[in-house]
Amino acid sequence: MTTRLIHGRAELRGALAHRTGEVGVVMTMGALHDGHRELIKVARRRCQVIVVTVFLNPLQFAPGEDLSRYPQTLDADVALCAEEDVDLVFAPDVAEVYPLGEQPQVRVQAGPLGDVLEGASRPGHFDGVLTVVAKLLHLTGPDVAYFGQKDAQQLLLIRRMTQDLDFPVEVVAVPTVRDGDGLALSSRNGYLTDDDRAAALSLSRALSAGAAAAGDGPDAVRRTALAVLDGQPGVGLDYLALVDPVTLQSVPASYTGEALLAVAARVGPTRLIDNTLLTLGKLTLGKLTLGKLTLGTQEA
Ligand code: PAF
Repeated sequence: MTTRLIHGRAELRGALAHRTGEVGVVMTMGALHDGHRELIKVARRRCQVIVVTVFLNPLQFAPGEDLSRYPQTLDADVALCAEEDVDLVFAPDVAEVYPLGEQPQVRVQAGPLGDVLEGASRPGHFDGVLTVVAKLLHLTGPDVAYFGQKDAQQLLLIRRMTQDLDFPVEVVAVPTVRDGDGLALSSRNGYLTDDDRAAALSLSRALSAGAAAAGDGPDAVRRTALAVLDGQPGVGLDYLALVDPVTLQSVPASYTGEALLAVAARVGPTRLIDNTLLTLGKLTLGKLTLGKLTLGTQEA
């Protein structure tokens, strides 16, 4: 099977018109890496038709962010898609996606979930993300859309959008792919010098240390993770937050259950994010999770 590269919406519609089976979409801004490859592989296990979109969406970048230097590697992206037997790569230009002008009058608003964490640091970012994701869902009409857990807030917001606005698509989360040293894969890792990269490892180390303290409660998780990042040369911490994974509100000291530990930091000129899900105040025995049972001094 050959991978077909499509730039226009009419051609895309034609290519999808006579499809049989389930269509899975993987949306990207290009500069594909093994994290994207994993999304495609997971999609392939279920879907008969795979569409990868490659579109650097100006709407989700604020002035002064890295839009103008974001890596664009379409030939290599198509080659990776061909290795993974992707059916269609949809790589429209800006005018194809925003034919009425780069600043659409009507946009999807992320609401309060888009104002915290990444949204607090990047105002309007998630409105831009959701607007383009809504458009790409309409253009590709998939049964299933696959997004990485690495962008946990984006994933949550896209899921909420599809539920709140009744998009007929299932959103599937795919675990973060990491390099052997723990660094979460990102198209922006290409910006890192060797020194930056060494400093950037403190993000995943902080998350692992925080997760290891989960049995001791939220304050211990925050304290332990922050201790790894504190005074780390070359790392400008933006936020480290331990939040409810559904509301994204900071969890109180008494909280038990699943939580999201999320970090954002500037490493050299590059802004990186990472996160991990953890369970607070519960003891997990193999597959059995015990809630509210007291075992010695540890609340299980
Ligand atoms: O995660 C990304 O690469 C982008 O935010 C997305 C979902 C493709 C929208 O532009």
